[in-house]
Amino acid sequence: MMMPAQAVTDFATREPSKAALDRGILPMPSLEYTDEVAAETAPIYEMVKNVIPPIEWPFHAPYISAINRLKKERGAVILAHNYQTPEIFHGVADFKGDSLQLAIEAAQSESNLIIQCGVHFMAETSKILCPEKTVLIPDSTAGCSLASSITAADVRALREKNPGVPIITYVNTSADVKAECDICCTSSNAVQVVESMGTDRVFLIPDQYLAKNVNRQTDVEVLTYAGACEVHERFTAEELRGYRRSMPDVQIIAHPECPPEVVDEADFSGSTKGMIDWVKTNRPEKVMMITECSMADNVASETPDVSFVRPCNLCPHMKKITLPKILDSLLYMQEEVTVDPMVADKARQAVERMINLKS
Ligand code: 13P
Ligand code: SF4
Repeated sequence: MMMPAQAVTDFATREPSKAALDRGILPMPSLEYTDEVAAETAPIYEMVKNVIPPIEWPFHAPYISAINRLKKERGAVILAHNYQTPEIFHGVADFKGDSLQLAIEAAQSESNLIIQCGVHFMAETSKILCPEKTVLIPDSTAGCSLASSITAADVRALREKNPGVPIITYVNTSADVKAECDICCTSSNAVQVVESMGTDRVFLIPDQYLAKNVNRQTDVEVLTYAGACEVHERFTAEELRGYRRSMPDVQIIAHPECPPEVVDEADFSGSTKGMIDWVKTNRPEKVMMITECSMADNVASETPDVSFVRPCNLCPHMKKITLPKILDSLLYMQEEVTVDPMVADKARQAVERMINLKS
């Protein structure tokens, strides 16, 4: 399917950022795997030893050590989405979570410098909520098939054709799109947001599968758009039935960006945080997370008593964030995320309306 071009937002460039000009560039640290680095990072390796082979640790450890030292020097906070790789998630993140948790943490953090390890719309959401803070993303080309499926002009056209129908935007959209919508939602609060609108019909854009899954959980009619997550739409119901036939004792949990017939085959469906909480609470003997690959690795590190079967799909955008790029962010203050202040003001209303909903 041809996707419309991504909404044009004035965001990061590889030119020296204002932040770099203001705060200066730091000297490159040594990246040698010394005994000191090994000892300092040993507790972290203990945590991830089941998912990172020992032969790889001498590559990761010097970066982890340097990043943790430099982030203190810069007064930075590192936010990491649940899909980040274990060496980032367990090695350098100060705060980890799903899209909603990261948005709230960005707003509440006392630090003036946020390094967002996730995809671009997540960094943009942080900037929308904290316009006075410097927000850096280690690779500004880390996009999202949902965010690039719809533009602000598409939303305006929807509104013109459907006067009076509230438009809820999934958080996986650009700031330009959020600015045109009434309220934002994430996969963990979508039903609540839909029901908070007080109408019989709403649009929930742009993820057609999330919208269909939500539609089944409420009396409100949920209309949608043709967007999809390129990672979750690849799972099929037949694939899940095959896993169940070969492993009758496995518990299957799926993200609601999967098609409804896939969610129907699962024992539970929820946001990335919802899935993690489900595993930590239920402690199944064997579980399969129908979502992005790194999440099972991250949870496996914290729940060694649970056995993970991993039929996962990789998100190529999330995987663009790496330790060397995070180090570059800290050294060179790149890549700075900026949002047009008028767009940010309107988008902030949509995000804050969601955050302020009582749970
Ligand atoms: P969560 O809000 O569940 O973390 O999902 C974000 C995402 O991009 C899933 O593909
Ligand atoms: Fe976007 Fe899908 Fe990647 Fe999440 S997993 S960031 S929805 S492409």
